[in-house]
Amino acid sequence: MKDDICGIVLAAGAGTRMKSKLSKVLHRLAGRPLLHYPVLAAVEAGARDVIVVASPVNRRDVEGCLGELELPPGVSVTIAVQEQARGTGDAARAALGELKRGWALILNGDIPLIRADDLLPLLDACTERACKLALLSCQLDDPSGYGRILRDTAGKVREIREQKDLQDQQQRDVREVNAGVYLVESELLRRTLGNLRNDNAQSEFYVTDIVADAAATERVVAATGEPAVLQGINDRQQLANLEAVLFERIASRHRLAGVTVEAGARIDDAVSIGRDTTIRANVSLRGRTVVGEGCVVDQGSVLDAAHLGRDVNVKPYCVIVDSRVGDGAQIGPFAHLRPGSELQDDVHVGNFVETKKTRMARGAKANHLAYLGDTDVGEASNIGAGTIVCNYDGFSKERTVIGKGAFIGSDSQLIAPVRVGDGAYVGTGTTLTQDAPDGSLVLGRPQLVVKEGYATRLRQRLKAKADAKKRHH
Ligand code: UD1
Ligand code: CA
Repeated sequence: MKDDICGIVLAAGAGTRMKSKLSKVLHRLAGRPLLHYPVLAAVEAGARDVIVVASPVNRRDVEGCLGELELPPGVSVTIAVQEQARGTGDAARAALGELKRGWALILNGDIPLIRADDLLPLLDACTERACKLALLSCQLDDPSGYGRILRDTAGKVREIREQKDLQDQQQRDVREVNAGVYLVESELLRRTLGNLRNDNAQSEFYVTDIVADAAATERVVAATGEPAVLQGINDRQQLANLEAVLFERIASRHRLAGVTVEAGARIDDAVSIGRDTTIRANVSLRGRTVVGEGCVVDQGSVLDAAHLGRDVNVKPYCVIVDSRVGDGAQIGPFAHLRPGSELQDDVHVGNFVETKKTRMARGAKANHLAYLGDTDVGEASNIGAGTIVCNYDGFSKERTVIGKGAFIGSDSQLIAPVRVGDGAYVGTGTTLTQDAPDGSLVLGRPQLVVKEGYATRLRQRLKAKADAKKRHH
């Protein structure tokens, strides 16, 4: 494999058919911006440097998007700016300033299905067959819209001709099309890009014209790849179609690594999942979520930047965002762990429980209907049904600290800042406005009144009153 490859990813096009404020290459598929896919493919194929050609409009966003990439050590990605969208050849020219000696691997920025494996035939062609320009082609039943590979009678590649520049039916019938991926020796690229002209149907500088130029003096190889790799994204329908392909690919990758993934689960590309875990239908695992071994994430749950230990059971319809869950914990159904929740091993959080910036130590439980915000719950403490931590007074947020082995009775309110000591017991229905010392019982209930026989007498009186009213009418 060549070790002096520089990737050039063309991403300065306007992408008008997306009908979006967001530049096309920043739209996400399976959790990653479109642009990440060709960049990662180039890096995995061996590129040490990648130049992304951006426009003055999307430059900032492209920068941010590339900052999200986790790159292997020694790999650098830089941005070159194409001042005006004057065609793919003009875009490639914008990268020349950063291009070193060696080889340039040029990729369209809108092809998310491309992988390093698809690029290997180009590398092989340029090493073994000693050519200086190789490109990827595909055979399509319907080639319309793509550039056609035109060969001479001996079958040698002569040029690429764009759809709008085709001259006759014979050319239109050519089903071998250009995928938009080229491997070119750097000096040859400089020379041929320098010769580009825009006297064509679109008055653009086409990168594809380097082929005819090079073919005049050099052998050019077109390696035929899978048709899937060239599928580009021009509108949101194509984006949805290709995202479905990516989700299926990702599911299959996890299945082969020992994870049970039911049909209909949507797992983002950067997610990691341990063996013997089951991901049920309609689950979304987003961002950099990590799921340990032996877990179940049941139907309809959404996890984003969540970190689950081993043997965690996430029951149906939970939402877990930017939170950590320890080994053996049980969550849901219908639980909501908001950012900054840290649930240690064997914690139980049941239905209609919401946590935010809350730590629950080992074995703590909140099984039904509770809100725990800015709270620290000690080991093995039990939070009763309907407990609400009142952490916000409309101006600032305050913390609640509950010690180890404490018991909060159902329907209690804890008005922060407040502390419940180790082993303390807060009686059912208490509104806690001051600290409960270790081992104390705190009760804040109005006096209970019991009046024997009163209900019967009350009913008689009310009935008599209603009857009198009816007679009157
Ligand atoms: C291109 C090829 C075509 C090929 C097809 C495969 C050319 C002239 N044609 O056509 O042969 O079959 O890809 O999908 O290259 N871009 C810029 N600056 C520009 C114009 C485009 O950076 O001025 C970028 C776009 O952001 C995009 C890529 O280049 O990522 C391809 O441009 P696009 O306009 O989509 O080319 P196609 O018409 O699809
Ligand atoms: Ca395209």
